[in-house]
Amino acid sequence: MWRPMSNGMSSAKTFVVAVVGATGAVGREMVRTLERRRFPVSRLVALASKRSAGQTIPWHNTELTIEELGPTSFAGVDIALFSAGGSVSRDYGPIAANAGAVVIDNSSAWRMDPACPLVVPEVNMAAADVRPKGIVANPNCSTIQMVVALKPLHDAARIKHIIVSTYQATSGKGHAAVEDLLAQSRAVLGGMPVEPDVFPGQIAFNVLSDWKAGEGDYSEEEWKMVHETRKIMGDASIGVSPTTVRVPVVNGHAESIHVQFHRPMTASEAKSLLRGAEGVVLMDDTYAPGVHPQPAHATGTDAVYVGRVRDDLAVPGALNLFVVADNLRKGAALNAVQIAERLFTSSVERRT
Ligand SMILES: NC(=O)c1ccc[n+]([C@@H]2O[C@H](COP(=O)([O-])OP(=O)(O)OC[C@H]3O[C@@H](n4cnc5c(N)ncnc54)[C@H](OP(=O)(O)O)[C@@H]3O)[C@@H](O)[C@H]2O)c1
Repeated sequence: MWRPMSNGMSSAKTFVVAVVGATGAVGREMVRTLERRRFPVSRLVALASKRSAGQTIPWHNTELTIEELGPTSFAGVDIALFSAGGSVSRDYGPIAANAGAVVIDNSSAWRMDPACPLVVPEVNMAAADVRPKGIVANPNCSTIQMVVALKPLHDAARIKHIIVSTYQATSGKGHAAVEDLLAQSRAVLGGMPVEPDVFPGQIAFNVLSDWKAGEGDYSEEEWKMVHETRKIMGDASIGVSPTTVRVPVVNGHAESIHVQFHRPMTASEAKSLLRGAEGVVLMDDTYAPGVHPQPAHATGTDAVYVGRVRDDLAVPGALNLFVVADNLRKGAALNAVQIAERLFTSSVERRT
């Protein structure tokens, strides 16, 4: 069992935190994020399936033993961060909440439940104050980075229509998907046949739409971008036309976004709104090859990078932007920990 770190905040309240899915791509990042941001943890409970019970993960200067998730895992837990998939969240989220924990859930299980707030701190933190089920939902990774970038523009000119095409990294599909990309890449480079494991086809040196089918020829991921954007922004009239695509990148999602407003907006006005906006790093260099937000630069950082802000050439008053963020950080673990910070602490330094 891990005991409190010395973080210079000895008089501050500390919390028992559980991470469900602590061996996964997001769960590991959650544990690192709690440590990096010095979240005041009195005890960390690292939970996963029977498969990895007994394994250890690094936590401060020690190793933490993974425990098997079960109905009694949440006794005494103040905050439960879930990232073990929808069915685990559906089964165990209410159990954790009934045991007294505030649940912050990364899966899609509770996102569209009207009784669960769907929260991006930079956009709608106040929504987290009302949580009848004790569960706060963390949005989909591609939606989070888009709404962080668009919120300052929405506040100024109200968004009418978003056309978004994503370039999503393999880590967004979990740890095993990254292994699949690497194995497929080795096969291609070695002149061997590609044998996809997690992906439904070749992802190495290819692009692929690999999400489950949703309604009407749109994927589930595309529908998530539609519904979640409206719920987070609190505006059901926003039109969202998404195309989600997986690219052979290990980590870091990119998005090409065309946005139209209820009144004309210029690129120059948008840049001044985005400069200094919470959670945003504006990259407003003039176009040059290779000078723009990129997953390789964003990975391992916390910000949402917004660049290539341009007046649209065909639609007066509309804009085009290119937005990149680390999907495991701002798209998942960081956003969840930021919610916990704002709900539970006033003394933790709030970095964006
Ligand atoms: N990756 C992203 O960018 C991203 C972004 C936003 C949201 N999410 C969501 O976060 C969740 C986790 O994603 P991930 O990418 O971290 O997946 P992952 O790498 O595949 O990890 C899954 C985790 O869940 C655990 N788990 C699976 N079944 C379990 C069970 N029955 N009981 C207890 N633990 C169980 C696994 O434990 P074992 O080691 O024991 O198998 C592992 O720790 C998903 O709901 C995903 O949609 C992911």
